[in-house]
Amino acid sequence: MTDNRPIAFFDSGVGGLTVFAKVKKLLPSENYLYFGDTKNMPYGEKTEKQLIEFADRIFKFFEKQNAKAVVMACNTTSAITYEKLKDNYNFKIYPIIQTVCSTLAGLDGVKSLGVIATPATINSHAYSKGIAKYNKDMKVYELAAPNWVRIVEEHRIHQPQSIEQIKEILEVMKENNPDKIVLACTHYPYLLDVLKKFLPEDKYIDPAIFFAQSIKNDLKKNNLLGKEPTYERFYVSSDPENFKIASELFYKLDILPELV
Ligand code: DGL
Repeated sequence: MTDNRPIAFFDSGVGGLTVFAKVKKLLPSENYLYFGDTKNMPYGEKTEKQLIEFADRIFKFFEKQNAKAVVMACNTTSAITYEKLKDNYNFKIYPIIQTVCSTLAGLDGVKSLGVIATPATINSHAYSKGIAKYNKDMKVYELAAPNWVRIVEEHRIHQPQSIEQIKEILEVMKENNPDKIVLACTHYPYLLDVLKKFLPEDKYIDPAIFFAQSIKNDLKKNNLLGKEPTYERFYVSSDPENFKIASELFYKLDILPELV
């Protein structure tokens, strides 16, 4: 049995493309939708009420487009809105944090994890609580990186001031000396060129790798895999040109995303 309805993704901007690119590689035979809520970026500085409104609007948009599954390719909305909204729609919902915590909790030889994320994700303690469900002995050090999302969205990755801001956060995290550091915001893999100036690349974990694999497994288990890709559609809530430029490192769009 196959199901050719689209798999839909959303994030505040280009961050979710780091997840989308990995899922598309594992599942090339699908139709895809992607919504970047650029008008409301950065999500990490918004209230719970605002984040619920944004996510609900996007879920309803995808409902109209007949999505078979929605991937919350955004740590912040997964942390703040998933539990509140998860039963309200007629498709499968995959939240990044709740999906990857069991894997993070059981990583071979890892006894401590740093988690760098947006202020909203850090304040929710979604990672430390989620990991503790599976492994009470794992030490988790959570740290907010308030400026990093804007650095990506405004394509300022290699500017000296951005490098300084990235370094400052890493210096604080280094004091805890965690075995690995989770890039717990989907925008952060865009910063890897800079991040690896300060710590070896294999110190960082992009949880999207585990996330993509479990999305594939679950779609398969539920007979929801497609087999005839005919389209992929990108939408933004403001500034399509900026989205196209900022996304280039992870996904090259042939045309501008549609403004909705
Ligand atoms: N990329 C999102 C995340 O994973 C949201 C970042 C933001 O807009 O603050 O948390």
